[in-house]
Amino acid sequence: MKLSILCCALSLLQAVLSGPGAPGSSAEALHRRNIFYVGGEYVFNATQGGTILINDQYVEELTPAGGVKHPYPIVFFHGGGVSGAQWLNKPDGNPGWATYFLNQGYMVYILDIWSVGRSSAEDFPAQIIGGTVELVEVAFSAPELYHHYYQAQFHTQFPGNGSIGDPAFNDFYARFLPLAFSPRIENITRTSTCALLSMIGPSFLISHSFGGSVGYLTTDGCPTLVKGHVSVEGDSSPYANYDAGVFGVNTSSPTRAWGLADVPIAYDPPVTDPSQLVTTTTGELKYTDGLLSQYPCIEQATSPPPRKLANISQVPVLFLTTQASVHVLYDQCLVQFLKQAGVIVDWILLAQVGIKGNGHFSMLEKNSDQIAGVILKWLLGKE
Ligand SMILES: *[C@@H]1O[C@H](CO)[C@@H](O)[C@H](O)[C@H]1NC(C)=O
Ligand SMILES: *[C@@H]1O[C@H](CO)[C@@H](O)[C@H](O)[C@H]1NC(C)=O
Ligand SMILES: *[C@@H]1O[C@H](CO)[C@@H](O)[C@H](O)[C@H]1NC(C)=O
Ligand SMILES: *[C@@H]1O[C@H](CO)[C@@H](O)[C@H](O)[C@H]1NC(C)=O
Ligand SMILES: *[C@@H]1O[C@H](CO)[C@@H](O)[C@H](O)[C@H]1NC(C)=O
Repeated sequence: MKLSILCCALSLLQAVLSGPGAPGSSAEALHRRNIFYVGGEYVFNATQGGTILINDQYVEELTPAGGVKHPYPIVFFHGGGVSGAQWLNKPDGNPGWATYFLNQGYMVYILDIWSVGRSSAEDFPAQIIGGTVELVEVAFSAPELYHHYYQAQFHTQFPGNGSIGDPAFNDFYARFLPLAFSPRIENITRTSTCALLSMIGPSFLISHSFGGSVGYLTTDGCPTLVKGHVSVEGDSSPYANYDAGVFGVNTSSPTRAWGLADVPIAYDPPVTDPSQLVTTTTGELKYTDGLLSQYPCIEQATSPPPRKLANISQVPVLFLTTQASVHVLYDQCLVQFLKQAGVIVDWILLAQVGIKGNGHFSMLEKNSDQIAGVILKWLLGKE
């Protein structure tokens, strides 16, 4: 009974999501796409404890593949309650006005009006991932200037100097939007991503950072629809968020009561309450040349025998860690936890295969294609 309710709720969700505009049906005009941010100003905000960018807008620039035939581009503004998606394909799957005017040879610009979609939010809450300019510099784009942890000094791959004022940094920072970890996000992303996979069929997942949680939860929710999960410095660090002093605290803070999440995930033997998971601390806090270089880990104790991740262990994981990201201090914790719970993990420390100088946002750094090549090789081996 319970199962059939779940089944029907799921198929209703699919029905809602799989209208004629379903994946694969696009008849949009061929175009080149560029994205950038406009406007905005840096302000110091005492509540945030640093500098933030406010009032910037997200722009998509679409250039017709057949060439530009008109002297003036068209700039689209969406209406209230929706976003720039309004101008792309229509709800019945047919091409919308962006396509119409691209086919006429117009350059097309689509904005997410300020406070909407990918533009900056109206109320920038204090606790967001990314946070202030200073936090983004120290954690992601220029850790080498701050010496908060030993490996930071090896960071060389960020385009430009990684600091405020540099054009690449300004664009990078504009992309940060409010998001805070929450059990609600975990539940919702698991359900809705499994709905996507049930529409498009078994797929590979590539996740970065916070998205790692979404990848592991999606695998948990619908393991038969996941061919493999590439986790690029994926979060879900067991039981803790680590910060290496980057955020002003250098101790781990308890979170993820279910090991990888704060919401129930499938274990074998089953777990009905997270207190049934017995844990222990392994490894130690290490310093190299007086700088933090490794965190200890929390994993399952050996007695009783560690439980397996019933669903997540059905899917192979490629886990990538860069040379100079703060993650190099603690990614071993997640890898150990997954392996102990029966997951087959290929863990590649990129520096050990000759890919050096990367920080946490390696997909945006100078040698990103080199890293994509490592992923491609793994995917081809799993097809
Ligand atoms: C500073 O940020 C807080 C949210 O963290 C916001 O409520 C406040 O309005 C901001 N102050 C200014 C002057 O923008
Ligand atoms: C980075 O480059 C920008 C733009 O040239 C400059 O304003 C800024 O001072 C530089 N910052 C550092 C830390 O070098
Ligand atoms: C998440 O889903 C579980 C059921 O799987 C439910 O028990 C829990 O209350 C949900 N939590 C939130 C915050 O939605
Ligand atoms: C585990 O996967 C099965 C499908 O194989 C799914 O029905 C079940 O809901 C999943 N369990 C959890 C807790 O996500
Ligand atoms: C935190 O960092 C300070 C130096 O910034 C150091 O003295 C202290 O031992 C560290 N504590 C832990 C638990 O890492």
